[in-house]
Amino acid sequence: MSDHLDPKTDKPTFYITTPIYYPSDKLHIGHSYTTVAADAMSRYKRAKGFDVMFLTGTDEHGQKIEKKAQESGLTPKEFVDHVVAGIKDLWSLLDISYDRFIRTTDRQHQYCVQTIFSKLYDQGDIYLGEYEGWYCTPCESFWTDNQLVDEKCPDCGREVHKTKEESYFFRLSKYADRLIEKFEKDPEFIQPSSRANEMLNNFLRPGLEDLAVSRTSFDWGIRVPFNDSHIIYVWVDALVNYISALGYPDLDGDFATYWPADVHLVGKEIVRFHTIIWPALLMALDLPLPKQVFGHGWLLFNEDKMSKSIGNVVDPVILCARYGVDAIRYFLLREVPFGSDGGFSNTSLVNRINSDLANDLGNLLSRTTAMISKYFAGDLPAEKEAAPIDDELIGMCDRTTDAVEALMEKMQFSLALTEIWKLIKRSNKYIDETTPWLLAKDEDNQARLAAVLYNLAETQRVVSVLLAPFLPTTAVKIREALRIDERDVDQTAWDSSRSFGRWRPEQVIEPCRPIFPRLDVDKEIEALNKVFRGDTPEEDKQPKKQKEKSASSATKNEETVAEGVQLIEFADFAKLRLTVATVMDCEKVDGSDKLLCSQLQTGDGIRQVVSGIAQFYTAEQMAGRQVVLVENLKPRKVFGKESQGMLLCAEDKKDGSLRLLCVDGAVENGSEVS
Ligand code: MSP
Repeated sequence: MSDHLDPKTDKPTFYITTPIYYPSDKLHIGHSYTTVAADAMSRYKRAKGFDVMFLTGTDEHGQKIEKKAQESGLTPKEFVDHVVAGIKDLWSLLDISYDRFIRTTDRQHQYCVQTIFSKLYDQGDIYLGEYEGWYCTPCESFWTDNQLVDEKCPDCGREVHKTKEESYFFRLSKYADRLIEKFEKDPEFIQPSSRANEMLNNFLRPGLEDLAVSRTSFDWGIRVPFNDSHIIYVWVDALVNYISALGYPDLDGDFATYWPADVHLVGKEIVRFHTIIWPALLMALDLPLPKQVFGHGWLLFNEDKMSKSIGNVVDPVILCARYGVDAIRYFLLREVPFGSDGGFSNTSLVNRINSDLANDLGNLLSRTTAMISKYFAGDLPAEKEAAPIDDELIGMCDRTTDAVEALMEKMQFSLALTEIWKLIKRSNKYIDETTPWLLAKDEDNQARLAAVLYNLAETQRVVSVLLAPFLPTTAVKIREALRIDERDVDQTAWDSSRSFGRWRPEQVIEPCRPIFPRLDVDKEIEALNKVFRGDTPEEDKQPKKQKEKSASSATKNEETVAEGVQLIEFADFAKLRLTVATVMDCEKVDGSDKLLCSQLQTGDGIRQVVSGIAQFYTAEQMAGRQVVLVENLKPRKVFGKESQGMLLCAEDKKDGSLRLLCVDGAVENGSEVS
């Protein structure tokens, strides 16, 4: 897609971005979906020799974040710092190879946004006026009367607020004709192309209004440089990240190397911002437009978009801990054709892992290495005898790389994986056809048997190369089992997948343990159903805000503190977020006799917490209890497991035994303890 060359490396460049996510809460598997897709694409392009710039980050300003911070008793910056640290941990867990992480609170970004705002004002593209209409805070979107659906936000269906305030406006209407022309002349600009029609019919053809681009009713954001009672609209602030991350307004350096972006990957609900507002801003700045905006579909749970506000989110950390990172990456990239909506269900996840990864792929590797070990003590002889039946497998190896490349260029991850799996399935069939165990019975068949096992191993080398962008750890595991040195580019580089016959093991092959253990499908589905039920609406689960009540209990607390104990301000206490949660599942942590690992149903999803209470409670005794959780404790690793909070216990003064703090009578999970 790129026609740029990096002057430092002479390689073609490829610039890919994800949306910058709101750090209003920890991210769920829907956000991971976009980021894993961008990662697979970046790894593929790097393997193809591109100089890749893969950008992700966080969109940290706005009313929604300001409110969340207030509720937690933290400053907005303290609040986002904490959530952003968790987001970076999640990306590292999911093996996301981003090159740059932008935060809209970065100084360079803020400077860039202000410079752009002033420039547009100076040239007359921004003017002062008064906004009167509706605002949806969760979406940070403005709506007119006739855009509302049943008086609610047309995007998310939630309450909107009447807003009347002085506001700066961007002359969006001025760019409508140029936008229509762009959409009509460049069918690649918006993918899938059906989304272009949606934009044309729903927004552009009915006529664009100028866009309110500043707010005066809250504080947390970038100020208009020449009028500091105004905060720049969070979507203008956010969209600019794609160029501020490259050093804009400096036109040299990274900006010259990577802009325009090859592709902005976004969920379909924000295609409108990326294909109307963003291009219009770029037109006003006289900058080239991104080459493509790809609006993928939603990951659904129980037919709803998975989202915090509906309360049906799935936590990727829990899934990775249970099945391994690559199993989750595989599911995300394979299950749903990229572009369409698709359902996440516990059953589809478990079945995919079992049939594709454990059976097809894992079994093939275990069988191949076991046979090489058993029949040749791990060392295939040089003499090999080919047979016509080999041609189909070898021919398929040669063709698969082309097929995968063609699909990756269109970001069809699921279909690309299907092609790789055809090769894997063909290999399994080749074992049935060639019956190595029968060949092994006769000494005269040694050369034929060696050829069969070589072909199988070599096909899996090819598979490892093709799989690397999708499942990086698995690719390495396959090569370890086949005793391939990672540094040997002759066997590991992308184009080596086109040359059958390069496999040269460095050491004796040993039987390899299953890289994806087989699952007990029913048991797994039952266990997951306890954790991700996805059926409780968020309204039912929201902790009740008890600000006033907490404030009055402050004085009482301070008065009754025993002498000799250091007094704290109420504000210090208010920093703690203590809530009620139910233990859905609990198990002992392998290798430790003190630790239990619990999955807790909180007010807004599932959390994993590791506690040092195994000497006082069994896992069975924990299940079903309502406990008190310190919800805003920084996540940390305990014995290799992520612990996202802490359970409160009383430590008996006499013997040091621990007793859990429980609630006197059942309350809704997420209820605040104050
Ligand atoms: N901050 C804005 C984006 C600004 S980009 C200049 C925003 N943030 S968000 O945190 O709400 O993230 C939205 C994005 O997360 C979606 O566009 C999509 O990429 C991803 N997803 C969130 N939930 C998802 C699903 N249930 N399914 C698929 N993708 C999802 O919007």
